[in-house]
Amino acid sequence: MHTPSRNGGRYGRTAAAVAGLTAILDVYTPDEVRDRLRRATPEHRKIIVPVLLTELKQREEDVKYDWRTCDRDACDGLPHEGMNRRHARPSQIPPIGDWLIWMLRAGRGFGKTRCGSETAKAWAGYNPNLPNVESMPGSRGAIVAPTFADARDTCIEGESGLLSVLPPSAVKTWNRSMGELILTNETRIKCFSAEEPERLRGPQFHWGWCDELAAWTRPEAWDQLMFGLRLGSQPKVVVTTTPKPTKLVRDLDSRETVHVTHGSTFENAANLAPAALDELRRRYEGTRLGEQELFAKILTDTPGALWTADVLSGSRVAEAARVNRRILAVDPADGDEKGDGYGVTVASLGEDGHGYIEINEEWHNSVDQMAAATIELAHDTGCGVIVVEKNHGGKWIPALLRKYDPKMKIDDVWAADGKTTRAEPISAFFANRDDFPATAHLVGYHPELEDQLTNYTGKPGEKSPDRLDSMVWALTYLMLSQRKERPKLVCV
Ligand SMILES: Nc1ncnc2c1ncn2[C@@H]1O[C@H](COP(=O)(O)OP(=O)(O)OP(=O)(O)O)[C@@H](O)[C@H]1O
Ligand SMILES: [Mg+2]
Ligand SMILES: [Zn+2]
Repeated sequence: MHTPSRNGGRYGRTAAAVAGLTAILDVYTPDEVRDRLRRATPEHRKIIVPVLLTELKQREEDVKYDWRTCDRDACDGLPHEGMNRRHARPSQIPPIGDWLIWMLRAGRGFGKTRCGSETAKAWAGYNPNLPNVESMPGSRGAIVAPTFADARDTCIEGESGLLSVLPPSAVKTWNRSMGELILTNETRIKCFSAEEPERLRGPQFHWGWCDELAAWTRPEAWDQLMFGLRLGSQPKVVVTTTPKPTKLVRDLDSRETVHVTHGSTFENAANLAPAALDELRRRYEGTRLGEQELFAKILTDTPGALWTADVLSGSRVAEAARVNRRILAVDPADGDEKGDGYGVTVASLGEDGHGYIEINEEWHNSVDQMAAATIELAHDTGCGVIVVEKNHGGKWIPALLRKYDPKMKIDDVWAADGKTTRAEPISAFFANRDDFPATAHLVGYHPELEDQLTNYTGKPGEKSPDRLDSMVWALTYLMLSQRKERPKLVCV
């Protein structure tokens, strides 16, 4: 256990005697210590060795919970002369100056959450050595994440969370159902979900940590947090996020009073599991979305695209309205085109008559395995119908799907219209104007789909991507075809 005062209790002898014995670790090199022990009498060795071992163990523990900085301007955080362990890189250290908001806008795996919890730890009074941070023992702190589970599982209990960076002796109680962490110096830290901004109304704080702010479904949570930052001489907020082009992110990024630090995934490559890094590379390297996910660029709209980031943000909801019916739409993989995937969308029609995009994925596998997975997903999500596009190799899909569930209702639709003609009315459903509010919604975030939507212009010859296609099929079926008596083509 880490105890700030090294008292007699820990070693069973007086503090002064222990200090006298352990001082040799501070004064002499390891070789000199070994030499002295060799020359000591057996009785003396019997006393001193257990004390030194306890002290060494304690020092190891101290290092484990220590977020160190060095004085090199461009340091990769790996051990070097004068620093025998991995440590914070300069971009992970809170900036100098009188900032109210520090936004760490960085790629996936950069070490954002670690910076958030280390900064919170320093505010809480448990790392007085972290530069540019006021130590506030006994303060009130708020942690806001996309969901309550994110705050609890990532920011507190995760591998980079507060419980991993605080020495165990600093923790008085952790109430995981309430999301309340009380430290031994009476600092109180409370977890909040950005899905429930109303819970932030009322409580007051000295400091706040917002993790993955770009993925908050209700940005009002930000305003509520800011109202609540009323304690202390100067409240502070750290925002740790991979960006998305949301209004809030763009707004904070352009404000003069916000200090923005920027970083890429690869800066932290040495601290990431090779498999995780490979997966990020496989998914994003060389793609437009990779600019956002790996290099933390804020993507701008493609001129002429049928959807814009603002339209999609305006349509976004945290959950669907009461569901009237739910369907699964498939855009089959076209074996002829390299890299073409099998697009899958689960969408619902709410009692309010609005369409809701709940799940959107792209699969690459054998057709047989994808058919089995489609049926499984339809069952898991309670879809009554599977809608399949028959063009582009989709002819065989209904028969394959029936192999896994002969009773499933399958509507196969034939794309008679051009892709753009199909996509245009669907894009209008998302538009959020005063006179015509959105009637189609994204439920939560779908980064790959949103990237496809905000880049598709429908120009002749432009290939429409699979996620977009299956989404368009789903909403065409729910919001257009179903207004007629029967779908375009039904084969049972
Ligand atoms: N300077 C550093 N030295 C050693 N380890 C580090 C450093 N910075 C981050 N790490 C470690 O790298 C790993 C990833 O960090 P973290 O979870 O904070 O990244 P993240 O950017 O929040 O990732 P994600 O995008 O997945 O949310 C963690 O194990 C963390 O402790
Ligand atoms: Mg994180
Ligand atoms: Zn260094």
